Amino acid sequence: AAARAAVALVEDGMKLGLGTGSTASIMVELLGARVQAEGLKLRCAATSKTTADLALRNGIGIESLDQLGWLDMTIDGADEVDPDLHLVKGGGGAHLREKVVAAASDRMVVIADPGKIVDQLGKFPLPVEVLQFGFETTRKLIRRALDDLGLGGHDVMHRLRGSDPWLTDEGNWILDLHLDAIPEPVALAHALSAIPGVVEHGLFLGMCDLAIIGKADGSVVELNRDAGMDADFLAGEGEQF
Ligand code: A5P
Repeated sequence: AAARAAVALVEDGMKLGLGTGSTASIMVELLGARVQAEGLKLRCAATSKTTADLALRNGIGIESLDQLGWLDMTIDGADEVDPDLHLVKGGGGAHLREKVVAAASDRMVVIADPGKIVDQLGKFPLPVEVLQFGFETTRKLIRRALDDLGLGGHDVMHRLRGSDPWLTDEGNWILDLHLDAIPEPVALAHALSAIPGVVEHGLFLGMCDLAIIGKADGSVVELNRDAGMDADFLAGEGEQF
């Protein structure tokens, strides 16, 4: 439902960023159906190789971000959405390209189910893309930064695929920070960005303009950054799922 509502925002001639993940995949398929049915002329950049392949299979042409220059809208999923529409992303390991693409867009639209709505970020382990070079040194510096912020003692796990390190599209590795709660996301984002071996963290702060939450009955709730989170939604409906 969320993907369908986001695809309905797409207009002929738009330049779009296509997100990554299971929700974004549904969006790409629905977008492909619109392109076939209506002959929409779109120019699209993908946030991962997986999404690029899926888009091509669904009849959507993919160009590089640099070919497109600037995008009208990016539609992507999220792992957590807080009341300020700050996000945790990167569960699928694509947050680096996702952030580059979202930052080059007039508008970032997030599509998710109500289970992604949280009062506070951090239950979902925070993904941090890290250079292979000096990996353990970077892990130590991350632990030190977490200590400084009062977030010490939590697991900082090397993400694996089977027994091998998870390799991102950019050839880097990922650390997942099991923090449980992130009381000060801005401070954590700054601290992580200041570590040289950190390529990009999964905190998307002030980037999401609209979150479309799809409910089990097929309806959607739209949360605008400017309007803030709907208090009734937070108090009730978000928790039912
Ligand atoms: C990919 O790296 C992520 O940022 C995804 O956008 C996020 O994990 C949401 O994915 P799902 O829609 O599969 O939950």
